[in-house]
Amino acid sequence: MFTPFELKSVTFPNRIVMPPMCMYSATEAGEATDWHLVHYGTRAVGKVGFIILEATAVEKRGRLSGQDLGIWDDSHIPGLRKVVELCRAHGSVVGIQIAHAGRKAWGEELVAPSALAFPGFAVPHALSKGEIAQVVESWRQAARRAREAGFDVLQIHAAHGYLIHEFLSPLSNQRRDEYGGAFQNRLRFLLEVVEAVQSEWPEDKPLSVRLSAVDYLEGGLTIADTVEISKALKAQGVDLMDISSGGILSARIELGPGYQVPFAEAVKKGAEMPTIAVGLITTPELVQEIISNGRADFVALGRELLRNPYWVLQAKADPELWPKQYQRALPQN
Ligand SMILES: Cc1cc2nc3c(=O)[nH]c(=O)nc-3n(C[C@H](O)[C@H](O)[C@H](O)COP(=O)(O)O)c2cc1C
Repeated sequence: MFTPFELKSVTFPNRIVMPPMCMYSATEAGEATDWHLVHYGTRAVGKVGFIILEATAVEKRGRLSGQDLGIWDDSHIPGLRKVVELCRAHGSVVGIQIAHAGRKAWGEELVAPSALAFPGFAVPHALSKGEIAQVVESWRQAARRAREAGFDVLQIHAAHGYLIHEFLSPLSNQRRDEYGGAFQNRLRFLLEVVEAVQSEWPEDKPLSVRLSAVDYLEGGLTIADTVEISKALKAQGVDLMDISSGGILSARIELGPGYQVPFAEAVKKGAEMPTIAVGLITTPELVQEIISNGRADFVALGRELLRNPYWVLQAKADPELWPKQYQRALPQN
């Protein structure tokens, strides 16, 4: 897990990832705050190799909460740039997850492929083809802003029951036009977003997509679908898959350490792509097992890094790794 990894022009110093986690701490206008500097900066001091900023909204109506980070306006760029520069100064590779919550958004204006509500939410407006084109344009502009803010990696949020996942899953997409029905049609919106984003995102920087590998429901997405989606993304130039699961509708999930690792493994082997595994992974032993057996290329620790920002330092008491300011706390000193 301490072996560097290269992807395009980016060298990741180790395989530990902080996955995107909403902090609900942006201003009402969607700007980053001191919280983001302290929170992300601390994990960079803690030598997390790759930090992915939380779901950041490509449209105001696409926020998951009223305190989400935004990237729908140029005024968001300076605040994000400060976070990038701070984390990079401490050696982390910095990515951002750009997102649209679709029918699970916060606020009045819910949009989705079909007028099917997520339980507890209002019925969303089914996007017309013209409106779909406008949303795709929002993703393009968000990618431009992410480039201008200086991020190393861009991640498209296509998981957890949000807008792109809503197009992918037959459980939320009942369209009869070219965006619904057959697999290739349900995939169309994601591929259009990828293409739009690529027109603004530098070719030499990695592009990642986060997918929910399975819906855990009859008639929903399966791991076989996810391998096919990943192959299509690879053909279109996507570099790195981040494999989560669930979120389209509530479902029974058997949780346990590394429960989603088999999905990342299936994508890595089936689509022959670099992958991030995530989900209830907390120990250096499990991280090491996943990496050394080639089950995934990166391992993301979500809640564990909320509990312990210095997980990486504790996994390796090495003066070369530790910040000079903390050397006196090394166990051997
Ligand atoms: C507070 C919190 C916020 C989260 N926000 C996001 C998010 O913005 N985008 C996303 O894709 N996943 C989000 N997740 C899911 C995490 O990225 C991760 O996949 C999940 O927590 C499982 O990993 P863990 O068991 O290591 O925590 C969030 C999780 C937590 C705990």
